[in-house]
Amino acid sequence: MKERILLSSPHMSDEGYEQLFVKEAFDTNWIAPLGPNVTGFENEVASKVGIGYAAALVSGTAAIQMALKAAGVKQGDIVLCQSLTFSATANPIIYENAIPVFIDSDYETWNMSPKYLEEALIKYPNAKAVLIVHLYGLSADMDKIVDLCKKYKVTLIEDAAESLGTTYKGRYTGTFGDYGIFSFNGNKIITTSGGGMLVSNDSEKIQKVRFWSTQARDQARHYQHTELGYNYRMSNVIAGVGRGQLKVLDQRVEKKRQIYHYYKESLKDIQDIEFMPLNEWNYSNCWLTSITLKGKISPIDLILALEKENIESRPLWKPMHLQPFFEKYDFIGNKVSDDLFSRGLCLPSDSKMSVEQQNRVIKAIRGLFVYE
Ligand SMILES: Cc1ncc(COP(=O)(O)O)c(C=O)c1O
Repeated sequence: MKERILLSSPHMSDEGYEQLFVKEAFDTNWIAPLGPNVTGFENEVASKVGIGYAAALVSGTAAIQMALKAAGVKQGDIVLCQSLTFSATANPIIYENAIPVFIDSDYETWNMSPKYLEEALIKYPNAKAVLIVHLYGLSADMDKIVDLCKKYKVTLIEDAAESLGTTYKGRYTGTFGDYGIFSFNGNKIITTSGGGMLVSNDSEKIQKVRFWSTQARDQARHYQHTELGYNYRMSNVIAGVGRGQLKVLDQRVEKKRQIYHYYKESLKDIQDIEFMPLNEWNYSNCWLTSITLKGKISPIDLILALEKENIESRPLWKPMHLQPFFEKYDFIGNKVSDDLFSRGLCLPSDSKMSVEQQNRVIKAIRGLFVYE
C-alpha cells in the first residue's frame, strides 16, 4: 500500500517552538486553565490580525456560541447564517435557542451572497445577527456585507475558523465584524489539537466572554453566580502549542498557496476542472484547495479514484438547508450552494506534502480525465 496522503494534518514547527512554550508551562507548574501562555496567545493573535482583544477558548464552536451571547442573541431571535458551511457554524444558534435562517452563496466568493443577505434583511427586519463564513480560506465579499450590516443595524459575526492568515484588501479576515472567531482544531492551518478564539475591538464584551467561559463566577469570596456559566477557557498547556504554531503561520500560508498554484498549473489543460475563486482583493490562506467539476465525472468518481491510490479528499460542505436537522428553517437563495456541493471537492492540501506526493495526486486526477 502506498503511503497515505492526507487532506490537512497537524504540522508542528521544525524549530520546536511549541515544545518550548509547553515546557515552560510544565517548569512553572501552570498546568491549568488560564496562565501566561493563554494571555500571551491572546495578545499575539490579536496583534497578528490587528484587533484589540481576544479570548482563548476550548473550540471555535464555543467561540461562535460566545459571540452570539455577546451579540445579545436570545431565545427566538433570528440569526442569518451562511448555508454552505460545516454544521459547527450553525449549531451554536440552536444552543442559544435562536432561529437560523440560511443564506445562499455566490459563485464569486463561494461565501454568503450580499444579494440574498439583503433580501433576508428585508424579510427579517428584526434579525439579531449575521453569521458569515470564510470557507476554505476564501474571504467573503466584506465591503458589501459590512455595509449591509451597518445599513440594517445588525451585528456581524465572522466565522474565520478556516481562514486565519487570509486577508481581504490587506486586512485579516475575522477583524471586519463586531466579532470574529478562529479555530485551532487538528486539521486547521495552525492547530493546538483543539481550541478556538474569539476576537473583537469591544473590550467589555471580551471581558464578559472570559467571565461566562470561566463558570460566570461573581466577585465574591464564596461561589456566587448571577449568570449561567460555561467551562470554555483554553488551558495554559494548549495555549503554549498555539503560541509556537503562530510563529509559523506565515510559512503555512505560503506553503498552502504554493500547493494551490501547483495544482492549478498542473491541471490547467483539463477543461472540466475549475478551481475555487481567488479574487484579486483576496490573499487566501488556501487552507484546502477545492475544485468543481463540469463534465460527466462526478466528485464521488474522483474521490473514489483518489482513495484507490490511498489519497484522502472529500466533498465540499453539504449546505445547512439540505441537512435533515436544519431543513425546516427558512432558506434564502437560488441553489448556488446546492450546485457547488453537488460538483465540488477538496483536494489534499497538507502543508507537509512534498512535491512528489502532490505529483502522485495530480497523476491520479489526470488518470481519470485524460483519455488519450
Ligand atoms: C467553518 C467552521 N466553523 C466552525 C468550526 C468549528 O471549530 P472547532 O472544531 O474548533 O469547534 C470549523 C471547524 O471545525 C469550521 O470549519
